[in-house]
Amino acid sequence: MARRKKIYEGKAKILYEGPEPGTIVQYFKDDATAFNAQKKDVIEGKGVLNNRLSEFFMQGLTQIGVPTHFIKRLNMREQLVRQCEIIPLEVIVRNYAAGTMSQRLGIDEGTQLPRPIVEYCYKDDSLGDPLVTEEHIAAFGWASQQDMEDILSLALRVNDFMSGVMMAVGIRLVDFKIEIGRVYDGDFQRLIIADEISPDSCRLWDIETGQKLDKDVFRRDLGSLTDAYTEVAKRLGVMPKTSTPITKPTLIN
Ligand code: CDP
Repeated sequence: MARRKKIYEGKAKILYEGPEPGTIVQYFKDDATAFNAQKKDVIEGKGVLNNRLSEFFMQGLTQIGVPTHFIKRLNMREQLVRQCEIIPLEVIVRNYAAGTMSQRLGIDEGTQLPRPIVEYCYKDDSLGDPLVTEEHIAAFGWASQQDMEDILSLALRVNDFMSGVMMAVGIRLVDFKIEIGRVYDGDFQRLIIADEISPDSCRLWDIETGQKLDKDVFRRDLGSLTDAYTEVAKRLGVMPKTSTPITKPTLIN
Protein backbone atom coordinates (compact mmCIF):
# COMPACT_ATOMS: atom_id res chain seq x y z
CA MET A 1 0.00 0.00 0.00
CA ALA A 2 1.32 3.44 -0.86
CA ARG A 3 2.51 5.51 2.09
CA ARG A 4 -0.04 8.06 3.15
CA LYS A 5 0.76 11.71 2.99
CA LYS A 6 1.14 13.28 6.41
CA ILE A 7 -0.57 16.65 6.53
CA TYR A 8 0.23 17.69 10.07
CA GLU A 9 1.63 16.31 13.29
CA GLY A 10 0.50 17.83 16.56
CA LYS A 11 1.13 16.99 20.19
CA ALA A 12 -1.44 14.20 20.49
CA LYS A 13 -2.53 13.45 16.92
CA ILE A 14 -1.27 13.05 13.37
CA LEU A 15 -3.39 14.00 10.36
CA TYR A 16 -3.03 12.11 7.06
CA GLU A 17 -4.62 12.76 3.70
CA GLY A 18 -7.89 10.78 3.55
CA PRO A 19 -8.99 8.32 0.87
CA GLU A 20 -11.32 10.83 -0.77
CA PRO A 21 -11.03 14.57 -1.37
CA GLY A 22 -12.31 16.51 1.60
CA THR A 23 -11.47 13.76 4.08
CA ILE A 24 -8.66 13.36 6.60
CA VAL A 25 -7.46 10.42 8.68
CA GLN A 26 -6.95 11.44 12.29
CA TYR A 27 -4.45 9.21 14.14
CA PHE A 28 -4.38 9.32 17.96
CA LYS A 29 -0.89 9.04 19.45
CA ASP A 30 0.01 7.88 22.96
CA ASP A 31 1.95 11.08 23.61
CA ALA A 32 0.80 13.24 26.49
CA THR A 33 1.92 16.83 26.92
CA ALA A 34 1.01 19.52 29.42
CA PHE A 35 1.96 23.09 30.26
CA ASN A 36 2.46 23.93 26.59
CA ALA A 37 4.56 20.76 26.04
CA GLN A 38 7.02 21.49 28.86
CA LYS A 39 5.91 18.19 30.46
CA LYS A 40 5.87 15.18 28.12
CA ASP A 41 5.44 11.42 28.34
CA VAL A 42 4.18 8.45 26.38
CA ILE A 43 1.13 6.90 28.01
CA GLU A 44 0.51 3.48 26.56
CA GLY A 45 -3.05 3.02 25.37
CA LYS A 46 -4.09 6.68 25.63
CA GLY A 47 -4.51 7.06 21.85
CA VAL A 48 -6.76 4.01 21.63
CA LEU A 49 -8.97 5.28 24.45
CA ASN A 50 -9.23 8.81 23.07
CA ASN A 51 -10.05 7.52 19.58
CA ARG A 52 -12.97 5.55 21.05
CA LEU A 53 -14.13 8.25 23.42
CA SER A 54 -14.01 11.00 20.82
CA GLU A 55 -16.01 8.76 18.46
CA PHE A 56 -18.58 8.17 21.19
CA PHE A 57 -19.05 11.88 21.96
CA MET A 58 -19.03 13.02 18.33
CA GLN A 59 -21.57 10.36 17.34
CA GLY A 60 -23.81 11.35 20.23
CA LEU A 61 -23.60 14.99 19.15
CA THR A 62 -24.50 14.03 15.57
CA GLN A 63 -27.52 12.15 16.91
CA ILE A 64 -28.84 15.26 18.63
CA GLY A 65 -28.22 17.40 15.54
CA VAL A 66 -24.92 19.06 16.45
CA PRO A 67 -22.71 18.85 13.35
CA THR A 68 -19.20 17.41 13.78
CA HIS A 69 -16.30 16.47 11.54
CA PHE A 70 -16.55 12.78 12.50
CA ILE A 71 -17.31 10.34 9.65
CA LYS A 72 -16.31 6.89 10.95
CA ARG A 73 -13.74 5.06 13.02
CA LEU A 74 -11.24 3.17 10.86
CA ASN A 75 -9.34 1.14 13.44
CA MET A 76 -8.02 1.23 17.00
CA ARG A 77 -6.17 4.50 16.56
CA GLU A 78 -7.65 6.17 13.49
CA GLN A 79 -10.84 7.85 12.48
CA LEU A 80 -11.98 9.35 9.20
CA VAL A 81 -13.04 12.97 9.54
CA ARG A 82 -14.26 15.73 7.29
CA GLN A 83 -11.63 18.23 6.26
CA CYS A 84 -12.35 21.73 7.50
CA GLU A 85 -10.67 25.07 8.09
CA ILE A 86 -9.95 25.25 11.79
CA ILE A 87 -10.92 28.58 13.35
CA PRO A 88 -7.80 29.59 15.34
CA LEU A 89 -9.63 29.63 18.68
CA GLU A 90 -9.83 27.25 21.60
CA VAL A 91 -13.38 27.51 22.86
CA ILE A 92 -13.51 26.69 26.56
CA VAL A 93 -16.75 26.12 28.46
CA ARG A 94 -16.64 26.09 32.26
CA ASN A 95 -19.28 24.92 34.71
CA TYR A 96 -17.06 24.89 37.81
CA ALA A 97 -13.91 26.92 38.46
CA ALA A 98 -10.62 25.08 37.88
CA GLY A 99 -7.21 25.44 36.27
CA THR A 100 -6.32 28.81 34.82
CA MET A 101 -9.68 30.36 35.76
CA SER A 102 -9.10 29.57 39.43
CA GLN A 103 -5.56 30.94 39.22
CA ARG A 104 -6.52 34.10 37.33
CA LEU A 105 -9.55 35.03 39.41
CA GLY A 106 -8.64 33.48 42.76
CA ILE A 107 -11.72 31.24 42.84
CA ASP A 108 -11.32 27.90 44.62
CA GLU A 109 -11.24 24.90 42.30
CA GLY A 110 -14.61 23.18 42.27
CA THR A 111 -16.69 26.30 42.95
CA GLN A 112 -19.87 26.09 40.87
CA LEU A 113 -20.15 29.03 38.48
CA PRO A 114 -23.41 31.02 38.39
CA ARG A 115 -23.85 29.86 34.79
CA PRO A 116 -21.67 28.22 32.13
CA ILE A 117 -18.91 30.64 31.13
CA VAL A 118 -17.45 30.52 27.62
CA GLU A 119 -13.89 31.72 27.05
CA TYR A 120 -11.82 32.06 23.88
CA CYS A 121 -8.08 31.51 23.57
CA TYR A 122 -6.07 32.30 20.47
CA LYS A 123 -4.57 29.04 19.17
CA ASP A 124 -0.84 29.69 19.11
CA ASP A 125 1.50 27.41 21.05
CA SER A 126 4.41 29.85 20.81
CA LEU A 127 2.27 32.35 22.75
CA GLY A 128 0.81 29.73 25.11
CA ASP A 129 -2.75 30.06 23.68
CA PRO A 130 -3.55 33.45 25.26
CA LEU A 131 -7.06 34.35 26.43
CA VAL A 132 -8.66 36.83 24.00
CA THR A 133 -11.89 38.78 23.91
CA GLU A 134 -14.51 38.99 21.18
CA GLU A 135 -13.00 42.40 20.34
CA HIS A 136 -9.69 40.76 19.39
CA ILE A 137 -11.52 38.07 17.42
CA ALA A 138 -13.52 40.63 15.44
CA ALA A 139 -10.66 43.11 14.96
CA PHE A 140 -8.21 40.47 13.71
CA GLY A 141 -10.88 38.77 11.60
CA TRP A 142 -10.49 35.31 13.16
CA ALA A 143 -14.27 34.87 13.10
CA SER A 144 -17.24 36.98 12.00
CA GLN A 145 -20.05 38.19 14.26
CA GLN A 146 -22.30 35.47 12.81
CA ASP A 147 -19.59 32.84 13.42
CA MET A 148 -19.34 33.98 17.05
CA GLU A 149 -23.08 33.59 17.55
CA ASP A 150 -22.94 30.12 16.01
CA ILE A 151 -19.84 29.16 18.04
CA LEU A 152 -21.51 30.21 21.30
CA SER A 153 -24.63 28.23 20.51
CA LEU A 154 -22.61 25.14 19.48
CA ALA A 155 -20.45 25.38 22.61
CA LEU A 156 -23.48 25.54 24.90
CA ARG A 157 -25.18 22.62 23.13
CA VAL A 158 -22.01 20.54 23.48
CA ASN A 159 -21.90 21.53 27.16
CA ASP A 160 -25.49 20.42 27.79
CA PHE A 161 -24.94 17.14 25.96
CA MET A 162 -21.60 16.34 27.61
CA SER A 163 -22.83 17.37 31.08
CA GLY A 164 -25.84 15.05 30.77
CA VAL A 165 -23.89 12.10 29.40
CA MET A 166 -21.32 12.44 32.18
CA MET A 167 -23.85 12.99 34.95
CA ALA A 168 -25.57 9.73 33.94
CA VAL A 169 -22.37 7.84 34.80
CA GLY A 170 -21.57 9.74 37.98
CA ILE A 171 -19.05 12.19 36.51
CA ARG A 172 -19.07 15.98 36.82
CA LEU A 173 -18.13 17.91 33.66
CA VAL A 174 -16.06 20.72 35.19
CA ASP A 175 -14.89 22.29 31.92
CA PHE A 176 -13.81 21.38 28.39
CA LYS A 177 -12.25 22.76 25.26
CA ILE A 178 -13.51 22.38 21.69
CA GLU A 179 -12.26 23.52 18.33
CA ILE A 180 -14.52 24.60 15.55
CA GLY A 181 -14.08 24.06 11.82
CA ARG A 182 -15.52 25.80 8.80
CA VAL A 183 -16.88 23.73 5.90
CA TYR A 184 -18.27 24.92 2.60
CA ASP A 185 -21.38 23.47 0.96
CA GLY A 186 -21.45 25.31 -2.35
CA ASP A 187 -21.62 29.01 -1.57
CA PHE A 188 -22.64 28.43 2.02
CA GLN A 189 -20.30 27.97 4.92
CA ARG A 190 -21.23 26.31 8.16
CA LEU A 191 -19.45 25.49 11.37
CA ILE A 192 -18.85 22.02 12.78
CA ILE A 193 -17.19 20.59 15.88
CA ALA A 194 -13.69 19.42 14.91
CA ASP A 195 -10.50 18.09 16.56
CA GLU A 196 -11.38 15.76 19.46
CA ILE A 197 -13.52 15.55 22.57
CA SER A 198 -11.80 13.33 25.13
CA PRO A 199 -10.50 13.35 28.71
CA ASP A 200 -7.44 15.15 27.26
CA SER A 201 -9.61 18.20 26.64
CA CYS A 202 -12.13 18.00 29.50
CA ARG A 203 -12.00 18.14 33.27
CA LEU A 204 -13.97 15.20 34.64
CA TRP A 205 -14.43 14.60 38.36
CA ASP A 206 -16.18 11.69 40.02
CA ILE A 207 -19.37 13.18 41.50
CA GLU A 208 -19.11 11.18 44.74
CA THR A 209 -15.40 11.21 45.50
CA GLY A 210 -14.10 14.15 43.47
CA GLN A 211 -11.47 11.84 41.93
CA LYS A 212 -9.97 13.35 38.78
CA LEU A 213 -10.53 11.27 35.63
CA ASP A 214 -8.87 13.57 33.08
CA LYS A 215 -5.52 14.97 31.95
CA ASP A 216 -4.97 16.66 35.32
CA VAL A 217 -3.93 13.16 36.51
CA PHE A 218 -0.92 13.59 34.21
CA ARG A 219 -0.44 17.35 34.73
CA ARG A 220 -0.43 16.98 38.51
CA ASP A 221 1.12 13.46 38.85
CA LEU A 222 -1.98 11.97 40.47
CA GLY A 223 -1.55 8.36 39.30
CA SER A 224 -2.17 6.36 36.14
CA LEU A 225 -3.69 8.33 33.27
CA THR A 226 -4.63 5.13 31.43
CA ASP A 227 -6.53 3.89 34.49
CA ALA A 228 -8.42 7.19 34.71
CA TYR A 229 -9.39 7.22 31.01
CA THR A 230 -10.24 3.51 31.15
CA GLU A 231 -12.61 4.24 34.04
CA VAL A 232 -14.39 6.90 31.93
CA ALA A 233 -14.57 4.52 28.94
CA LYS A 234 -15.87 1.68 31.13
CA ARG A 235 -18.59 3.78 32.71
CA LEU A 236 -19.72 4.93 29.28
CA GLY A 237 -19.59 1.34 27.95
CA VAL A 238 -17.06 2.21 25.24
CA MET A 239 -14.10 0.11 26.38
CA PRO A 240 -12.04 -1.16 23.40
CA LYS A 241 -12.74 -4.86 22.82
CA THR A 242 -9.10 -5.98 22.99
CA SER A 243 -8.61 -4.65 26.50
CA THR A 244 -9.54 -6.27 29.77
CA PRO A 245 -13.16 -7.49 29.92
CA ILE A 246 -15.77 -4.78 29.98
CA THR A 247 -17.85 -4.54 33.09
CA LYS A 248 -21.25 -3.24 32.13
CA PRO A 249 -21.72 0.41 33.03
CA THR A 250 -23.78 0.82 36.16
CA LEU A 251 -27.32 1.73 35.23
CA ILE A 252 -28.57 4.68 37.17
CA ASN A 253 -32.27 4.61 37.96
O1 CDP B 1 -5.79 23.15 31.28
P1 CDP B 1 -5.30 24.42 31.85
O2 CDP B 1 -5.46 24.51 33.32
O3 CDP B 1 -3.94 24.80 31.33
O4 CDP B 1 -6.19 25.54 31.22
P2 CDP B 1 -7.71 25.87 31.43
O5 CDP B 1 -7.89 27.14 30.68
O6 CDP B 1 -8.09 25.84 32.85
O7 CDP B 1 -8.45 24.70 30.64
C1 CDP B 1 -9.84 24.58 30.58
C2 CDP B 1 -10.20 23.27 29.91
O8 CDP B 1 -9.77 23.28 28.55
C3 CDP B 1 -9.52 22.06 30.54
O9 CDP B 1 -10.46 20.98 30.52
C4 CDP B 1 -8.37 21.75 29.64
O10 CDP B 1 -8.05 20.38 29.62
C5 CDP B 1 -8.88 22.22 28.29
N1 CDP B 1 -7.79 22.72 27.44
C6 CDP B 1 -7.33 21.97 26.38
O11 CDP B 1 -7.85 20.89 26.12
N2 CDP B 1 -6.32 22.43 25.59
C7 CDP B 1 -5.75 23.61 25.82
N3 CDP B 1 -4.78 24.03 25.02
C8 CDP B 1 -6.21 24.40 26.89
C9 CDP B 1 -7.24 23.93 27.67
